[in-house]
Amino acid sequence: MDDETIVCRCEDITYQEVVDTVDEGYTTLDEIKRKLRCGMGPCQGRTCMRLIARIIKEKTGRHLDEILMPASRPPEKPVPLGIFASYEVGSKNARNCKRSEQFRSIFGGKDE
Ligand code: FES
Repeated sequence: MDDETIVCRCEDITYQEVVDTVDEGYTTLDEIKRKLRCGMGPCQGRTCMRLIARIIKEKTGRHLDEILMPASRPPEKPVPLGIFASYEVGSKNARNCKRSEQFRSIFGGKDE
């Protein structure tokens, strides 16, 4: 891989940036995720985490089985931001707003 090769295309992180981060002592996917934001883009790391795991393997000599995937928090698939803004406004009080049908179809739940 070339130094300027993009490893995480969502966050525009290059191979060299990942290598430098590993050299600084960040040797887990969770640490690299927190430092460089790899895995926090729209694909949630589906593309980059395996590549970064291979870079960690190259730099540290650890086996891939020892390199744990980072903590994953829902939603695990990209959700349009408009979904969160699509509450049906019932009053000026935000607590009285109702979830839109689209929001309920994705996240479930009932309005009281
Ligand atoms: S490529 Fe890294 S988060 Fe999408």
